[in-house]
Amino acid sequence: MSHAVLWFLVKNMIYPPSPKNIELLSQRLLGSAIVALPTETVYGLAGLASSDQAIAAIYAQKKRPQFNPLIIHGYNLDLLKSHVIWNPWAEKLAEAFWPGPLTVVLPKNQNSNLSLLALAGLETVAIRMPQHPLMHAVLSKVGLLAAPSANPSGSISPTCAEDVEIAFHGALPVLDGGACIVGLESTILDLSGEAPQLLRPGGISLEDLENLLGPLTKGSPLAIKAPGQLETHYAPNLPLRMNVSVGQKNEAFLAFGPEYPEEQEGLLNLSPKGDLQEAASHLFAMMRKLDQSHYAGIAVAPIPHQGLGLAINDRLKRAAAPRG
Ligand code: TXA
Ligand code: MG
Repeated sequence: MSHAVLWFLVKNMIYPPSPKNIELLSQRLLGSAIVALPTETVYGLAGLASSDQAIAAIYAQKKRPQFNPLIIHGYNLDLLKSHVIWNPWAEKLAEAFWPGPLTVVLPKNQNSNLSLLALAGLETVAIRMPQHPLMHAVLSKVGLLAAPSANPSGSISPTCAEDVEIAFHGALPVLDGGACIVGLESTILDLSGEAPQLLRPGGISLEDLENLLGPLTKGSPLAIKAPGQLETHYAPNLPLRMNVSVGQKNEAFLAFGPEYPEEQEGLLNLSPKGDLQEAASHLFAMMRKLDQSHYAGIAVAPIPHQGLGLAINDRLKRAAAPRG
């Protein structure tokens, strides 16, 4: 047997989504272990939101700076509300978009028993109700989970169970929920100030939010409270260039739209029909696939800056940022 096959047999920690495995992994979470779980956006590295032990393990596993707070995930709206000071914006947004790829930041309820480590000492809490049925099944058993994306800090977020397995060398159990439908992290809105403020574009478009709330203030880069907004993030190993119509010979090419081929050596197309939702769902997987050392870099075709294009361009811009 080859080393590769042996490694897979020994290290495979991907759990098929049977009721037995859902129960098993929920029990581990209740015992303060950490587990990777699927959501509709990206896979999350989950731990019990009230357990400092679990939260410390998440930061250690990701090598994440401890000043960067985690999103609290819940399926029970009353339970989520009990940890924050709820307001009418949150009510409207939850009604329209939950469960779904939207996170809201609200002032913390002083009686909350959420791990202070998970909140990085802030007086606000980021909460979201995810949409994936397996995440629901687990949340119904365990209550609230803190879950950052299940990738080492600064690297590309995982959109399938195998991405997580490879990123952490099989060190963690992963519940297999297949490929993530949205493929980009949730949109984050800060509702703790005078007006709602966009902190991170994501799976719910700015247009949809503004239809509901009116024009939004964009988080100013100086006032950044979400350290996920650190310049370099989602970094592939190769340098990446945006808004390129024709790549150079030695570059891999990430295309978008019908004027490019669907697929050929060194070229992948985010959406041959030019659909931004499809492009979002393929973005991270295709960046990973093209991130191979025999190319000099990755060139990316222009992506329209509307709808989910805002979130796609945001992630590409960070992937393209000069490395510190
Ligand atoms: O789609 C998602 O949101 C995924 C899935 C797993 O749910 N999670 C995710 O988590 O993207 P993470 O940790 O990779 O990104 C969370 C972002 C970080 O940029 C963090 O700084 C910000 O949320 N954040 C968390 N709590 C915050 C708070 N109280 N105020 C402002 N930003 C906050
Ligand atoms: Mg992340």
